[in-house]
Amino acid sequence: MAAAQDISAITTLATPITLPCGLTLPNRLVKCPMQETLAQAPFYDPPVPSFNNLYAEWAAANYGLIITGQVQIDIRFLSIAGDVVCHSKSLEAPHLERWKAWARVARGEGTRCIVQLAHPGRMSPAGAGERPGNMPAMCPSAVPVALPGADSMLNKFVMSKVLGTPKAMTLEEIDEVVGMFRHGARVAHAAGFDGIQLHGAHGFLLSQFLSPRTNQRTDTYGGSPEKRMALLKRLVTEIREEFPPPFCVSVKLNSADYMADGQGLQTSEGLEQVRWLITSGMVDMIEISCGNAENTTSKLHNSFGAKTMDRAPERKATTRIREAFFSDFADEVQKLQAAGSKGYVPIQLSGGYRSRVGMADGIESGVTDLIGLGRSAVLEPTLPRKTLLNPAVPDSDAIAMSHIVKGQWFANAIPIKVVGSGLGIQFFYHNMRRLGRGLASDPDLSIPMMLVKDVIETLRSGLATTLGRIVQSIDYRPAQKLD
Ligand SMILES: Cc1cc2nc3c(=O)[nH]c(=O)nc-3n(C[C@H](O)[C@H](O)[C@H](O)COP(=O)(O)O)c2cc1C
Repeated sequence: MAAAQDISAITTLATPITLPCGLTLPNRLVKCPMQETLAQAPFYDPPVPSFNNLYAEWAAANYGLIITGQVQIDIRFLSIAGDVVCHSKSLEAPHLERWKAWARVARGEGTRCIVQLAHPGRMSPAGAGERPGNMPAMCPSAVPVALPGADSMLNKFVMSKVLGTPKAMTLEEIDEVVGMFRHGARVAHAAGFDGIQLHGAHGFLLSQFLSPRTNQRTDTYGGSPEKRMALLKRLVTEIREEFPPPFCVSVKLNSADYMADGQGLQTSEGLEQVRWLITSGMVDMIEISCGNAENTTSKLHNSFGAKTMDRAPERKATTRIREAFFSDFADEVQKLQAAGSKGYVPIQLSGGYRSRVGMADGIESGVTDLIGLGRSAVLEPTLPRKTLLNPAVPDSDAIAMSHIVKGQWFANAIPIKVVGSGLGIQFFYHNMRRLGRGLASDPDLSIPMMLVKDVIETLRSGLATTLGRIVQSIDYRPAQKLD
């Protein structure tokens, strides 16, 4: 890339890129994976009417790539109520039709779209998913989640009821999970999506296998950094074998766990994981992120309140703008690419990007190839078209709005950590549900007001859902039983 100011920041962001699989993305802006929380029991299929609103907004917004919210591959284990699920009947009517409708709207304006496939592992709360009440969540090893600052008896009691102690997976259960991820790729392919992304970040199952904190196994899948990668390697290899290019295979990874006590995945091991992905020749794009529920220092959950700016930073040839949270790790990844002899694998850096010039600087300085936009894509779904790629908006004004969630005091005052700490992200779920109903996001909504609205929404939709289920069971009775 040319030095800053030789070309405009818009030109940098608008430059197409072709992934190793041959898929060309028309520009560098990516809508990050964000679970929409809009799917409903009993099948958790893509909710077509609300996705027709939500994904139509994103498809028309001129992203180079859309990554869907995480889709769970096992109907027994959701990470939150409302996750879309790829279940045993997803390749059959009427379920596949709903997947096809999703792919059609998400790719409606020629935008590329890939499906993120996930399993929450030990992060599956009781009641989220269709598993019996006495069935624990699964994890590579039986290591319960310990939320920071949640040491009181009350917190421990609630945690034991909500997440409990997970069960260490057997080899048969690991094989079953591999089969389900492969099935997920089949559904994404059959529906017409451009590819898949394996969610290997944020403390979900694949990241639990990659981290020494949660993977204390001593078999084929644990015991050394290499063995902790065995499941991810197996998934990438088997999915790539079944789906050659142009189907896109991507992976989202954590750079490190950043545990306060120094436990967990260290940066050096994170880099080794990326090195394998780069040299495997099987992966088309790597998204770099960080953090999980147990750490407070990764910055993943930083709101823009921590570094509010009302104007974009100035673009200077001599000064780098380090806007992204995980730029340092991405630098190390790019050094690996330079040293390696294999083909280049484009990197997507997600977390913290806010200004057009900051994003362009990330690309021009060689830190990243693609810019992931998460919370901004909820608050301002059309940000690329409206602002970032719009020549009528000067660089100085081309920034995403602040993410400060109002009424955070309310969340902090709740003594039950697992409830309070989740409210910040609920704000974004709430806004995605608004978009799904055809409304605009409400960035000014405070947390207490959001809760009031959510209660009203639940009461209203509770009745509608019950009626809907009765109708569904008449229509689809033969397809209802899942294996
Ligand atoms: C409401 C919400 C839901 C999210 N869901 C997912 C998800 O399903 N999969 C995933 O990999 N990351 C998920 N993330 C993380 C984002 O993809 C992204 O990495 C993070 O928000 C940082 O980017 P940002 O600073 O632009 O928001 C979610 C984030 C938010 C705010």
